[in-house]
Amino acid sequence: MSELVVDVVDEAGTARLAQSLAAALILPRGSVISLCGPLGAGKTRLVRALAAALGVNPDEVASPTFVLLHEYAGTRPIYHCDAYRLRSARELWELGIEEMFAAEAITLIEWADRVADALPAEYLEVRIEVTGDTSRRFTLRAIGAVYESVIDTLRRAAR
Ligand SMILES: Nc1ncnc2c1ncn2[C@@H]1O[C@H](COP(=O)(O)OP(=O)(O)O)[C@@H](O)[C@H]1O
Ligand SMILES: [Mg+2]
Repeated sequence: MSELVVDVVDEAGTARLAQSLAAALILPRGSVISLCGPLGAGKTRLVRALAAALGVNPDEVASPTFVLLHEYAGTRPIYHCDAYRLRSARELWELGIEEMFAAEAITLIEWADRVADALPAEYLEVRIEVTGDTSRRFTLRAIGAVYESVIDTLRRAAR
């Protein structure tokens, strides 16, 4: 099992992590990233920085708590889902999530722990802990071999 812990002291650190992550995702294969952590942890902030790294105007990236699903046209399609208001994995399926998993896109799911049963066999899990006003701890865990190599790439980039 491959895991990487990244501590950042401010939002600029979160943005740098997002840039490294955007570069490490193995494309053109589709990627799925689950985002877990309390309200205000920085899940949406990380998505915004990742989308920006892929050429999307960051102002387009809103918190999707009321709209369940956003799509951004980056250098690759980005699907951004917030499972906070979903009651079951089934509701995620009803949004058509399996097609997004199969697409050559990057799919990001906030509050993914609420819909764990709907996640694909392989994905990158990102857990965010609030360690201070502006500091955060990101724990990235590979679920599946493809994401092991993403973590290896990130680890090398961090050296
Ligand atoms: N290092 C950091 N990384 C991400 N967000 C941070 C950081 N420091 C402070 N913040 C603030 O924390 C909040 C995170 O909000 P948001 O991304 O909407 O959280 P979530 O989607 O997890 O509920 C924002 O107000 C952001 O400005
Ligand atoms: Mg959010």
